[in-house]
Amino acid sequence: MPMLNRTRHLQRLLRFLAPYRLLLGAAIGAVLVSALLALLIPLLFRDVVNAAFVDGNAAALNRAALLLIGVLVVRAVSSAVETYLLHRVSEQMTADVRVHLFEHLLRLSLPFFDNAQSGELVSRLTNDIATIQQGLTTSITALVLHTLRLVGAVLILFWLNWRLAVLVLLVMPLVGLITRLSGRVLRRESEAIQHHLAEATAVATETLANMRLVQAFGREAYARERFVASVQKTVQAALRRARMLALLTPTVGMLFMVAFVVVAWFAGRQALSGALTVGDVFAFFFYASLMSGSVNTLAGVYGAFQQTVGAAQRLFALLDTPPMIADTPNAQTLPPLRGEICFEHVSFAYNAQTPVLCDISLRIAPGEVVALVGPSGAGKTTLANLVLRLYEPTAGRILIDGYDIRTVTLASLRQQMALVPQDTILFAATVRENIRYGRLDATDAEVEAAAKAAYAHEFIMALPNGYETPVGERGVKLSGGQRQRIALARAILRDPRILILDEATSSLDSESETAIQQALARFLPGRTTILIAHRLSTVRIAHRILVMDGGRIVEEGDHATLLAKNGLYARLYRRQHANE
Ligand SMILES: Nc1ncnc2c1ncn2[C@@H]1O[C@H](COP(=O)(O)OP(=O)(O)OP(=O)(O)O)[C@@H](O)[C@H]1O
Ligand SMILES: [Mg+2]
Repeated sequence: MPMLNRTRHLQRLLRFLAPYRLLLGAAIGAVLVSALLALLIPLLFRDVVNAAFVDGNAAALNRAALLLIGVLVVRAVSSAVETYLLHRVSEQMTADVRVHLFEHLLRLSLPFFDNAQSGELVSRLTNDIATIQQGLTTSITALVLHTLRLVGAVLILFWLNWRLAVLVLLVMPLVGLITRLSGRVLRRESEAIQHHLAEATAVATETLANMRLVQAFGREAYARERFVASVQKTVQAALRRARMLALLTPTVGMLFMVAFVVVAWFAGRQALSGALTVGDVFAFFFYASLMSGSVNTLAGVYGAFQQTVGAAQRLFALLDTPPMIADTPNAQTLPPLRGEICFEHVSFAYNAQTPVLCDISLRIAPGEVVALVGPSGAGKTTLANLVLRLYEPTAGRILIDGYDIRTVTLASLRQQMALVPQDTILFAATVRENIRYGRLDATDAEVEAAAKAAYAHEFIMALPNGYETPVGERGVKLSGGQRQRIALARAILRDPRILILDEATSSLDSESETAIQQALARFLPGRTTILIAHRLSTVRIAHRILVMDGGRIVEEGDHATLLAKNGLYARLYRRQHANE
């Protein structure tokens, strides 16, 4: 990655720390105190040693020892302060970044999620942010602490004996270079590990979420293979990294030790010639090891920064993905609706190659119940998606009560609509919570009224804990028809002006469906309703029927007119009745 890019990523990351600059400043202050005191300690040791062995002064020895203990105590305090403050900043900042990313994901549009893997996204939220947490706090303070130690140690080394110091510094650049190169290699492997791990997570998430299908099809071995393949790749990348680590860490360490021995030899010569006292030699070794420790740590920090930048790059790539569908800067709040829906020459495609809706023009009057029928793949669900503005037309426009839906806020638009989706989606929560999802401030009585209207109350009361029964992940503990009725209750509770029922009663027996139709007959008046159904008996309550085929509306009218037309509708109808 170019240097410039890297600095920009780091600068952007630092912005997450901005709200905590005071705390972080205090933490770094404590780090500085610890670092300075750490630098003092070898000098104080030298005094202790020299007082005893060189000067033979008991009083000086006592003073030096007491001073040393005092310094050790202060250093312990400052490092306690530092540890607490750092963790505090680090945890809070991490929570901020996580929430920020999650909020951003919530704003992204459906076309993005159609093409994303949720396992990958979860890995951004967890692993990458953990890496960033490590990089931004621990590494920054280590950077400050050890740079200071390094500089301090070098200065003191020069002050103690410049010849020795020069010798020490001669070996440093070589080792520094190797460290830099190793950091680069390690980062590449770390990225590969992250990538394969995310892959494995994605496979696991998908498999665990669809265990019913996996077992029914006996695809455990297949799932295992896919999982193992990703895990293996992770291992391979990790092993490559381990080999690098195995090679590089001891090499760098050995170089330091060799340098150390050379220095020791030279220091011995200096002591022999009387240029250094015992205490000086003592202190010199302390500082030399302090310095080498700091260089080692700084090399580690460099590696951590490399990883942080990699994680930051992925994080920002996600954060920089703009929502394709968002409020325009001057979006209006949609006033309470009458519920008129107009399509004006609307065309749509999920991807450029295959048109799904072609030049649809249509007006649905406020309060009208319109049925949408037609063969599978005709574009019925797609048309409903456009009304909710989950996707945006590629041509033409959609007006609701005369407002182009692109000019109003998404919140005010969707708030007045309710959808019962074709694949009933329930959350791993209780029945009551699932229904209340339609309107979060609804009272228990309102939830139950909605359930009654959706013909669900009776079966809910028969569940082990009634409304408090957990439905299992995605509602697996309920039957398909029960799930649909809960989804319907949720939509009813929302009290929408525009209601979209996409195959909302397809899993029900005719008796329950008739009961729901009677309930709907009470609920629907005054609400514009789009009723999508394959079973043509379902559409009896509609005022008007639109027949879709191949992305176009090919026929429209009421049941009798359409039968008389003897077209697609009549054909579909006759085929269904022949079967009954
Ligand atoms: N998210 C998507 N990405 C890409 N193509 C899609 C997507 N959703 C649907 N399609 C395609 O768009 C076409 C219309 O799909 P749509 O779901 O609107 O059909 P439908 O009329 O609701 O069918 P059904 O009666 O089976 O529910 C289909 O050819 C389908 O493959
Ligand atoms: Mg559909």
